[in-house]
Amino acid sequence: MKQKFVIEGLAGKKVLNGEIKVNGAKNAILPLLAATIFLDKPAEFSNVPKIEDVARMLELLKMLGSEFEWTGERTLKIDASKLSSQVLDNDNAKRMRASILLTGPLLARFGKVSFPHPGGCVIGERPIDLFIEGFKKMGASVSEKNELFEISAVNGLIGTEFFFPVPSVTGTETLMLAAVGAKGKTILKNAALEPEVVCLAEFLNSRGARISGFGTPEIIIEGGRLFKESTSSRLIDGRTVDKVFPVIPDRIEAGSFLILGALAADNLKITDCQPAHLDSLIEALRFSGVTVEVGSNWLAIKNNEKVANETLRAVNIKTREYPGFPTDLQAPMTVFLTQVFGESSIHETIFEGRLNYVVDLEKMGANIKMWDAHRVLVKGPTSLKGKELDGPDIRAGLAYILAAIVAEGESTINNAYFIDRGYERIEERLKKIGVKIKRVDCEVC
Ligand code: UD1
Repeated sequence: MKQKFVIEGLAGKKVLNGEIKVNGAKNAILPLLAATIFLDKPAEFSNVPKIEDVARMLELLKMLGSEFEWTGERTLKIDASKLSSQVLDNDNAKRMRASILLTGPLLARFGKVSFPHPGGCVIGERPIDLFIEGFKKMGASVSEKNELFEISAVNGLIGTEFFFPVPSVTGTETLMLAAVGAKGKTILKNAALEPEVVCLAEFLNSRGARISGFGTPEIIIEGGRLFKESTSSRLIDGRTVDKVFPVIPDRIEAGSFLILGALAADNLKITDCQPAHLDSLIEALRFSGVTVEVGSNWLAIKNNEKVANETLRAVNIKTREYPGFPTDLQAPMTVFLTQVFGESSIHETIFEGRLNYVVDLEKMGANIKMWDAHRVLVKGPTSLKGKELDGPDIRAGLAYILAAIVAEGESTINNAYFIDRGYERIEERLKKIGVKIKRVDCEVC
C-alpha cells in the first residue's frame, strides 16, 4: 500500500516548540554495513536509523549470505561469516545507488563481483567511472554488457595511488574498502572529507585496518590486514567506541530540523546531533539573521517568534563538498530563502538535476527564477499556499514537508516512500513539536 503525508500549514507562524531528536546517519550506516563483508565475526552497530535504505542494504546483504538481527531498538548485529555470493541482486542494487559500496569489499574478499549499474537518479547523471577506474588501477579487469558489470582480480587487488578528479563520497568509501583488502599500500588523493568517510575509517581501524589521513584529502591505507573482533573500548573524536560501534548522527537530518526551526519554530532544540558537522549551515543561517545556539551535542533556536521574516536577509548559497554547504541541504535551504527578505542565489555545483523541484515551490507561490540547470534566484519573502505535490527524491521530499509546514492551508505530499528512504517515521517526531501532519494510506499516490 502506498502512503502520503497530509500537512496542515502554519501560514508562516513561528509556533513550533520543544525538542526533536536526530537519528543515526543514513550515509554513515550504509558504508558500515558494506564493511561487515570483511569480518569473520559479527559486528554490532548502535544508533542505526530504521529507514528504507537500511532495509534495502540489509536485504542485499542477506541475499549474499549475511545474517542479521536487531538486538535493541536501534542496535543491529550483522554476521557476514557465511557470506558466499558475490553477485549483487539486480533489482535491489538498481534501486539504491549506495549498493555500489558493496562492490569494493566483495571484490577484495572474493576476487570478483558482478553488479548492475546502480542507475541514474532524478538528481543527475551519477556516473560510476571513478569506481571502475579505481578498481582497474588496483589490477582488476572489468567487462560490461547491458549495464551489467563483471569485475575480477583473480590474484587479488594490489595497492595503488588514485587521484579523484572530483572528490566522490561513495567513491572514496568504496575504494577505501577495496584497499583494506588489497596487497600493499594505497594512497587516495583528493579524497572526500565527509564525516561519514571518517566514521567508516574509524570502524575499519577498530577492526584492525591501518588507515590514516582520513578527514584530509590524502588517505593512506596499508592493505592486507585481516579483521579482528573489537574488544577494547576507546575514545575516538569524543565518542566511546566499544564492541558496539555507534553510527554518527545524521547531519542532513539535523540541518533540516535547524532550517525548520528557523522557518516555523519559536523555540526548538535539536538533540543528539554533532553541531561541528554543520558549520556551513549555521553560518548561513546566522548571516541571514537567525539566532542559533550551539551546544556540545545539540542546537537550538530561541524566541524566534519575534523575528519577522522582513528582518531576515537573503543569503547566496553555493553547494560544496564537505565542509562546504551540503548539496543534500540545498532544497530545504531554498524553502527557507523563499521566506526571507531580498534576492538569494543558489548555485548547485555537485549535481545537475538537483533544482528541478523548484517548479513545485513556484506552484506553491514561491518567486524563483531559474537561470540554468545549476543556478536559481529566489526572491522573498513570499507566502506559500498548500498544494498536492509528488515527492521527487529523498532530500527534495523533505523540503516539500518544510514548505507545506510554512504554507497556508493543506498540502499533500505523495510518495511518502522517498522520504522514508532517508528519514525514520518523520511524522512522529514532527507531531511532537506541534506540526499537524498525518501519514495516510492511498491506492494511487
Ligand atoms: C553521496 C551521498 C549523497 C550526497 C552526495 C554528495 C551517500 C550514500 N550519498 O552520494 O547523499 O548528495 O554524496 O555529497 O553517501 N561522480 C563522477 N563519477 C563517479 C562518481 C561521482 O563523476 O564515478 C561525480 C558525481 O556525478 C557528482 C560528484 O562526483 O557530481 C560527487 O558525487 P558523489 O560524492 O559521488 O555522490 P555520492 O557518493 O553518490
